[in-house]
Amino acid sequence: MKQLILFFICMKIVASQNVGPVITTSPQNKTVLITSVSQLTLHCAATGNSTVHYSWQKNGTFLHNYGSKYRILPSGTLKIRHLSLRDTGWYRCLASNRQGEVYSPYVLVLVQAPAEIVDGPKDRKVWWGTVVRLQCRTVGNPMPHILWQKNGIPA
Ligand SMILES: *[C@@H]1O[C@H](CO)[C@@H](O)[C@H](O)[C@H]1NC(C)=O
Ligand SMILES: *[C@@H]1O[C@H](CO)[C@@H](O)[C@H](O)[C@H]1NC(C)=O
Ligand SMILES: *[C@@H]1O[C@H](CO)[C@@H](O)[C@H](O)[C@H]1NC(C)=O
Repeated sequence: MKQLILFFICMKIVASQNVGPVITTSPQNKTVLITSVSQLTLHCAATGNSTVHYSWQKNGTFLHNYGSKYRILPSGTLKIRHLSLRDTGWYRCLASNRQGEVYSPYVLVLVQAPAEIVDGPKDRKVWWGTVVRLQCRTVGNPMPHILWQKNGIPA
């Protein structure tokens, strides 16, 4: 009987040591304006019973350390350099060790560019009664709302 109890205690210790990593710091949603930053940092950290290694996914695809675009630090932090609108997406980290692996929840990184008028209206001389087409083309992410004014009064 004593041996049996000892056996179960041992099994319990082995089982509790056999847990995979536990995430202690999850990445957060982020919205960044491309003109104010050129690099973005997402944090992820986990504890575990053996050394934890980290990987990151964007929209379900693993990111790789090579090249100058992404850097995954041994601490788990992901650095994204040369930030562009294309970096918008869902990111999550994967913490793994010999006992198992665990994903953080997905977080949304939204990279935005300021609104900018690339093709504004030009001065025009027209006859009374003719239809005039004034152009205004803009870029931005999200797309800017366009408001027109006539002599300073909303049109
Ligand atoms: C991130 O944003 C999504 C959708 O906008 C939301 O469901 C989720 O709870 C947010 N996560 C965090 C960690 O704030
Ligand atoms: C194993 O990991 C768990 C959870 O991270 C922790 O509570 C426990 O103390 C660890 N055990 C050892 C022997 O490191
Ligand atoms: C990732 O997902 C976001 C949000 O759904 C989308 O806007 C973006 O185009 C996707 N990026 C890639 C590379 O698939």
